[in-house]
Amino acid sequence: MIDIHDLWKAYGGKEVLKGLTLSVKNGETIVILGRSGVGKSVLLKHIIGIAQADRGYIEVDGIRVSDLQGEKRYSATQHMGMLFQGAALFDSMNIEENTGFYLKEHGNLETGEKLSKSEIGDRVDEALRMVDLEGTQKMMPSDLSGGMKKRAGLARLIVYRPKFLLYDEPTTGLDPITAMQINELIVKTQKELQATSIVVTHDIISSLFVGDRLALHKDGKIAYVDTPDEFMKIDDPIIKFLTKTISEDPRTFRR
Ligand SMILES: Nc1ncnc2c1ncn2[C@@H]1O[C@H](COP(=O)(O)OP(=O)(O)OP(=O)(O)O)[C@@H](O)[C@H]1O
Ligand SMILES: [Mg+2]
Repeated sequence: MIDIHDLWKAYGGKEVLKGLTLSVKNGETIVILGRSGVGKSVLLKHIIGIAQADRGYIEVDGIRVSDLQGEKRYSATQHMGMLFQGAALFDSMNIEENTGFYLKEHGNLETGEKLSKSEIGDRVDEALRMVDLEGTQKMMPSDLSGGMKKRAGLARLIVYRPKFLLYDEPTTGLDPITAMQINELIVKTQKELQATSIVVTHDIISSLFVGDRLALHKDGKIAYVDTPDEFMKIDDPIIKFLTKTISEDPRTFRR
Protein backbone atom coordinates (compact mmCIF):
# COMPACT_ATOMS: atom_id res chain seq x y z
CA MET A 1 0.00 0.00 0.00
CA ILE A 2 1.14 3.51 -0.78
CA ASP A 3 -0.24 6.04 1.66
CA ILE A 4 0.32 9.69 0.85
CA HIS A 5 -0.81 12.02 3.58
CA ASP A 6 -1.14 15.82 3.50
CA LEU A 7 1.85 16.38 1.24
CA TRP A 8 3.04 19.95 0.74
CA LYS A 9 5.74 21.14 -1.61
CA ALA A 10 6.71 24.58 -2.87
CA TYR A 11 9.40 25.46 -5.41
CA GLY A 12 10.76 29.00 -5.11
CA GLY A 13 7.70 30.19 -3.21
CA LYS A 14 5.28 28.57 -5.66
CA GLU A 15 3.09 26.00 -3.96
CA VAL A 16 2.79 22.90 -6.14
CA LEU A 17 1.47 20.26 -3.73
CA LYS A 18 -1.01 21.70 -1.24
CA GLY A 19 -1.99 19.01 1.19
CA LEU A 20 -2.22 16.15 -1.25
CA THR A 21 -3.63 12.91 0.15
CA LEU A 22 -4.00 9.62 -1.71
CA SER A 23 -4.11 5.95 -0.76
CA VAL A 24 -3.24 3.25 -3.25
CA LYS A 25 -4.24 -0.26 -2.24
CA ASN A 26 -1.99 -3.22 -2.90
CA GLY A 27 -2.69 -4.78 -6.26
CA GLU A 28 -4.57 -1.87 -7.75
CA THR A 29 -3.74 0.51 -10.56
CA ILE A 30 -4.59 4.13 -9.94
CA VAL A 31 -4.52 6.55 -12.82
CA ILE A 32 -3.81 10.20 -12.10
CA LEU A 33 -5.20 12.70 -14.56
CA GLY A 34 -4.73 16.43 -14.47
CA ARG A 35 -3.75 19.47 -16.46
CA SER A 36 -0.20 20.12 -17.51
CA GLY A 37 1.92 21.64 -14.77
CA VAL A 38 -0.31 20.75 -11.79
CA GLY A 39 2.40 18.64 -10.21
CA LYS A 40 1.78 15.06 -11.32
CA SER A 41 5.44 14.35 -12.07
CA VAL A 42 6.39 16.15 -8.85
CA LEU A 43 4.12 13.79 -6.93
CA LEU A 44 5.72 10.69 -8.50
CA LYS A 45 9.19 12.08 -7.75
CA HIS A 46 8.21 12.37 -4.09
CA ILE A 47 6.98 8.78 -4.04
CA ILE A 48 10.12 7.37 -5.64
CA GLY A 49 12.21 9.51 -3.31
CA ILE A 50 14.02 11.97 -5.56
CA ALA A 51 12.10 14.94 -4.15
CA GLN A 52 11.63 15.85 -0.50
CA ALA A 53 8.30 17.20 0.78
CA ASP A 54 8.06 20.32 2.92
CA ARG A 55 5.33 18.71 5.02
CA GLY A 56 3.29 15.53 5.12
CA TYR A 57 4.42 11.93 4.68
CA ILE A 58 4.49 8.93 2.36
CA GLU A 59 4.24 5.39 3.68
CA VAL A 60 4.94 2.31 1.59
CA ASP A 61 3.69 -0.91 3.17
CA GLY A 62 3.68 0.82 6.55
CA ILE A 63 7.21 2.23 6.31
CA ARG A 64 7.38 5.99 6.40
CA VAL A 65 9.80 6.32 3.49
CA SER A 66 9.53 10.10 3.37
CA ASP A 67 11.40 10.29 6.70
CA LEU A 68 14.29 8.21 5.40
CA GLN A 69 17.33 9.58 3.62
CA GLY A 70 20.22 8.33 1.54
CA GLU A 71 20.99 4.63 1.70
CA LYS A 72 18.02 3.87 3.97
CA ARG A 73 15.55 5.50 1.63
CA TYR A 74 17.19 3.77 -1.32
CA SER A 75 16.82 0.31 0.17
CA ALA A 76 13.27 0.97 1.43
CA THR A 77 12.19 1.79 -2.10
CA GLN A 78 14.11 -0.92 -3.94
CA HIS A 79 10.82 -2.62 -4.75
CA MET A 80 9.69 0.47 -6.59
CA GLY A 81 10.36 1.32 -10.22
CA MET A 82 9.49 4.32 -12.32
CA LEU A 83 9.09 5.04 -16.00
CA PHE A 84 10.14 8.67 -16.30
CA GLN A 85 8.28 11.09 -18.54
CA GLY A 86 11.19 11.41 -20.98
CA ALA A 87 12.23 7.74 -20.64
CA ALA A 88 15.50 8.91 -18.97
CA LEU A 89 17.80 6.36 -20.56
CA PHE A 90 21.50 6.59 -19.80
CA ASP A 91 23.02 8.15 -22.93
CA SER A 92 26.37 6.43 -22.58
CA MET A 93 24.94 2.91 -22.28
CA ASN A 94 23.52 0.84 -25.09
CA ILE A 95 19.95 -0.46 -24.91
CA GLU A 96 20.97 -3.80 -23.46
CA GLU A 97 22.95 -2.14 -20.65
CA ASN A 98 20.18 0.38 -20.06
CA THR A 99 17.54 -2.32 -19.80
CA GLY A 100 19.59 -4.49 -17.47
CA PHE A 101 20.77 -1.63 -15.27
CA TYR A 102 18.56 -2.16 -12.21
CA LEU A 103 18.82 -5.94 -12.50
CA LYS A 104 22.58 -5.66 -12.32
CA GLU A 105 22.42 -3.13 -9.47
CA HIS A 106 19.89 -4.85 -7.24
CA GLY A 107 19.99 -8.50 -8.30
CA ASN A 108 17.04 -10.69 -7.39
CA LEU A 109 14.56 -8.52 -5.49
CA GLU A 110 13.31 -11.49 -3.45
CA THR A 111 16.62 -12.92 -2.31
CA GLY A 112 19.03 -10.03 -2.85
CA GLU A 113 21.33 -12.38 -4.77
CA LYS A 114 23.34 -11.08 -7.70
CA LEU A 115 22.23 -12.29 -11.09
CA SER A 116 24.60 -13.92 -13.54
CA LYS A 117 25.47 -12.18 -16.79
CA SER A 118 23.59 -14.74 -18.86
CA GLU A 119 20.53 -14.52 -16.62
CA ILE A 120 20.50 -10.73 -17.01
CA GLY A 121 20.99 -11.15 -20.76
CA ASP A 122 18.05 -13.54 -21.04
CA ARG A 123 15.71 -11.34 -19.07
CA VAL A 124 16.78 -8.26 -21.03
CA ASP A 125 16.14 -10.06 -24.33
CA GLU A 126 12.71 -11.15 -23.12
CA ALA A 127 11.77 -7.64 -21.94
CA LEU A 128 12.92 -6.10 -25.23
CA ARG A 129 10.84 -8.68 -27.08
CA MET A 130 7.82 -7.74 -24.97
CA VAL A 131 8.10 -4.09 -26.03
CA ASP A 132 8.85 -4.93 -29.65
CA LEU A 133 12.49 -3.83 -29.53
CA GLU A 134 14.14 -7.07 -30.51
CA GLY A 135 17.54 -6.52 -32.08
CA THR A 136 18.17 -3.08 -30.55
CA GLN A 137 20.46 -4.46 -27.84
CA LYS A 138 23.63 -2.87 -29.18
CA MET A 139 22.06 0.40 -30.28
CA MET A 140 22.59 3.62 -28.34
CA PRO A 141 19.62 5.67 -27.03
CA SER A 142 20.44 8.43 -29.55
CA ASP A 143 19.84 5.91 -32.37
CA LEU A 144 16.25 5.32 -31.24
CA SER A 145 13.08 7.23 -32.10
CA GLY A 146 11.09 8.88 -29.31
CA GLY A 147 8.60 6.04 -29.17
CA MET A 148 11.36 3.44 -29.13
CA LYS A 149 13.07 5.23 -26.24
CA LYS A 150 9.81 5.18 -24.33
CA ARG A 151 9.45 1.45 -24.90
CA ALA A 152 13.07 0.87 -23.86
CA GLY A 153 12.31 2.75 -20.65
CA LEU A 154 9.33 0.47 -20.14
CA ALA A 155 11.49 -2.61 -20.76
CA ARG A 156 13.95 -1.38 -18.13
CA LEU A 157 11.07 -1.07 -15.68
CA ILE A 158 9.32 -4.39 -16.29
CA VAL A 159 12.50 -6.46 -16.48
CA TYR A 160 13.20 -5.41 -12.92
CA ARG A 161 9.85 -6.80 -11.70
CA PRO A 162 9.21 -4.25 -8.97
CA LYS A 163 6.20 -4.51 -6.65
CA PHE A 164 5.35 -0.85 -7.07
CA LEU A 165 5.35 0.70 -10.51
CA LEU A 166 5.13 4.38 -11.27
CA TYR A 167 4.48 5.35 -14.87
CA ASP A 168 4.80 8.98 -15.95
CA GLU A 169 2.96 9.46 -19.24
CA PRO A 170 3.67 6.00 -20.65
CA THR A 171 1.74 6.55 -23.88
CA THR A 172 2.23 10.25 -24.59
CA GLY A 173 3.67 10.92 -28.02
CA LEU A 174 3.17 7.37 -29.28
CA ASP A 175 1.06 6.39 -32.26
CA PRO A 176 -2.31 4.82 -31.29
CA ILE A 177 -1.23 1.26 -32.05
CA THR A 178 1.96 1.48 -30.03
CA ALA A 179 0.07 3.27 -27.26
CA MET A 180 -2.37 0.36 -27.11
CA GLN A 181 0.51 -2.13 -26.95
CA ILE A 182 1.88 -0.19 -24.00
CA ASN A 183 -1.53 -0.21 -22.29
CA GLU A 184 -1.71 -3.96 -22.75
CA LEU A 185 1.79 -4.35 -21.34
CA ILE A 186 0.86 -2.30 -18.29
CA VAL A 187 -2.14 -4.55 -17.63
CA LYS A 188 -0.12 -7.70 -18.30
CA THR A 189 2.71 -6.58 -16.01
CA GLN A 190 0.17 -5.72 -13.33
CA LYS A 191 -1.34 -9.21 -13.48
CA GLU A 192 1.97 -11.05 -13.63
CA LEU A 193 3.64 -9.16 -10.81
CA GLN A 194 0.45 -8.54 -8.82
CA ALA A 195 1.92 -5.10 -8.60
CA THR A 196 0.60 -1.83 -7.28
CA SER A 197 0.76 0.89 -9.88
CA ILE A 198 0.30 4.59 -10.33
CA VAL A 199 -0.09 5.76 -13.91
CA VAL A 200 0.05 9.45 -14.75
CA THR A 201 -1.48 10.20 -18.11
CA HIS A 202 -3.37 12.71 -20.24
CA ASP A 203 -4.78 9.87 -22.28
CA ILE A 204 -8.30 9.16 -21.00
CA ILE A 205 -8.71 6.10 -23.22
CA SER A 206 -5.53 4.67 -21.78
CA SER A 207 -6.69 5.46 -18.26
CA LEU A 208 -9.93 3.53 -18.77
CA PHE A 209 -7.98 0.60 -20.14
CA VAL A 210 -5.46 0.29 -17.30
CA GLY A 211 -7.10 1.93 -14.26
CA ASP A 212 -9.00 0.31 -11.41
CA ARG A 213 -9.60 3.79 -10.03
CA LEU A 214 -9.11 7.22 -11.56
CA ALA A 215 -7.97 10.33 -9.71
CA LEU A 216 -7.95 13.98 -10.66
CA HIS A 217 -4.97 16.07 -9.56
CA LYS A 218 -6.14 19.66 -9.29
CA ASP A 219 -5.09 22.74 -7.29
CA GLY A 220 -2.30 20.86 -5.54
CA LYS A 221 -4.56 18.09 -4.30
CA ILE A 222 -6.26 14.91 -5.41
CA ALA A 223 -9.70 16.43 -5.92
CA TYR A 224 -11.49 13.15 -6.65
CA VAL A 225 -10.69 9.48 -6.78
CA ASP A 226 -13.23 6.86 -7.79
CA THR A 227 -13.94 3.84 -9.97
CA PRO A 228 -13.98 4.70 -13.69
CA ASP A 229 -17.79 4.62 -13.97
CA GLU A 230 -18.34 6.84 -10.93
CA PHE A 231 -15.42 9.12 -11.85
CA MET A 232 -16.86 9.87 -15.24
CA LYS A 233 -20.11 11.04 -13.62
CA ILE A 234 -18.42 13.68 -11.45
CA ASP A 235 -19.57 17.22 -12.11
CA ASP A 236 -16.23 18.91 -12.80
CA PRO A 237 -15.25 20.88 -15.90
CA ILE A 238 -12.03 18.89 -16.48
CA ILE A 239 -13.79 15.54 -16.10
CA LYS A 240 -16.64 16.73 -18.33
CA PHE A 241 -14.09 17.67 -20.95
CA LEU A 242 -12.40 14.27 -20.71
CA THR A 243 -15.71 12.43 -20.99
CA LYS A 244 -16.56 14.40 -24.08
CA THR A 245 -13.25 13.49 -25.75
CA ILE A 246 -13.93 9.79 -25.13
CA SER A 247 -17.14 9.73 -27.10
CA GLU A 248 -15.33 11.48 -29.94
CA ASP A 249 -12.28 9.18 -29.89
CA PRO A 250 -12.32 6.39 -32.46
CA ARG A 251 -10.40 4.12 -30.09
CA THR A 252 -13.28 4.15 -27.58
CA PHE A 253 -13.79 0.81 -25.90
CA ARG A 254 -13.47 -0.59 -22.42
CA ARG A 255 -11.27 -3.28 -21.02
N1 LIG B 1 12.90 20.91 -9.28
C1 LIG B 1 12.02 21.88 -9.52
N2 LIG B 1 12.33 23.18 -9.28
C2 LIG B 1 11.43 24.16 -9.49
N3 LIG B 1 10.20 23.98 -9.94
C3 LIG B 1 9.81 22.71 -10.18
C4 LIG B 1 10.71 21.60 -10.00
N4 LIG B 1 10.05 20.47 -10.31
C5 LIG B 1 8.82 20.87 -10.70
N5 LIG B 1 8.67 22.21 -10.62
C6 LIG B 1 7.45 22.96 -10.94
O1 LIG B 1 6.34 22.29 -10.41
C7 LIG B 1 5.21 22.42 -11.27
C8 LIG B 1 4.62 21.07 -11.58
O2 LIG B 1 5.49 20.34 -12.43
P1 LIG B 1 5.21 18.87 -12.93
O3 LIG B 1 6.35 18.49 -13.77
O4 LIG B 1 4.91 18.01 -11.76
O5 LIG B 1 3.88 19.06 -13.78
P2 LIG B 1 3.01 17.91 -14.45
O6 LIG B 1 1.68 17.91 -13.79
O7 LIG B 1 3.75 16.65 -14.46
O8 LIG B 1 2.84 18.49 -15.93
P3 LIG B 1 2.86 17.71 -17.36
O9 LIG B 1 1.51 17.12 -17.51
O10 LIG B 1 3.11 18.81 -18.33
O11 LIG B 1 3.96 16.70 -17.33
C9 LIG B 1 5.70 23.19 -12.49
O12 LIG B 1 5.36 24.54 -12.33
C10 LIG B 1 7.20 23.02 -12.44
O13 LIG B 1 7.88 24.09 -13.02
MG1 LIG C 1 4.68 15.54 -15.88
